Amino acid sequence: MPLPASIVILTGSGISAESGLGTFRDKEGIWTKYPLEDLATPEGFERNPEFVQGFYNSRRAQLKDTKAHAGHQDLARLQTAYEAEGLEYLLVTQNVDNLHEQAGSTDVVHMHGELTSIRCLNCGANQHHKDDITADTHCQNCDAVGLMRPDVVWFGEIPLHMERIMEHLARCNMFVAIGTSGAVYPAAGFVQEARYQGAHTVELNLEPSDVAGAFDEAIYGPASDVVSKWVDKLIG
Ligand code: APR
Repeated sequence: MPLPASIVILTGSGISAESGLGTFRDKEGIWTKYPLEDLATPEGFERNPEFVQGFYNSRRAQLKDTKAHAGHQDLARLQTAYEAEGLEYLLVTQNVDNLHEQAGSTDVVHMHGELTSIRCLNCGANQHHKDDITADTHCQNCDAVGLMRPDVVWFGEIPLHMERIMEHLARCNMFVAIGTSGAVYPAAGFVQEARYQGAHTVELNLEPSDVAGAFDEAIYGPASDVVSKWVDKLIG
């Protein structure tokens, strides 16, 4: 079977679960231990910036010892196959980790930002940053000190790269969601958008997501297993 000419893949925290990074809404999920209103909203940051910086500093530090697994690697393998055939491949992730890149994926669209990017509250410029944000962290663009925040998208803020994502959804032949609960929009609505345009839709997840009914096909199981099987089948 030939590869679909244009594919959009959306990943969520479930693809990074087996690497040891927590998901958000599962039984032991991050938002069951910490209130998201405190850690993932601009208002929470205004109320208690130290608490929020501490949380994202520890998540950024965790990345240094976290390894991508077979599921991430198989998506990189699929991208290589797409590029070899000159076909269109877009990997969109809601994850702020860097495991897709670690596995070899390139041009990954981080719609919720990235832990290894920080942004200046004074001038809006962002810069690559692997360590903690402290009171001394300075902006390389405007030189402001102590005004850097995590470059991640919080609830109430606008997801990134939406125009590019919507363009691809409008013309893709296949849409695949991996490891996401379908609880957070706009990402949860991508399946409907792709379906409306006639794409074949596939869900790869541990269990049926909140929007499972919108998929033509589903494979349930851990990402390290189901992604590999699905990629093998697609590449042939
Ligand atoms: N393999 C595949 N799927 C898994 C695995 C695994 N090993 N472990 C868990 N999952 C699935 C769960 O069944 C669940 O459906 O991953 C999904 C994780 O869902 P959420 O915790 O809601 O995470 P996500 O969908 O990425 O959240 C979206 O919410 O708080 C925000 O910004 C945050 O980007 C995040 C967004």
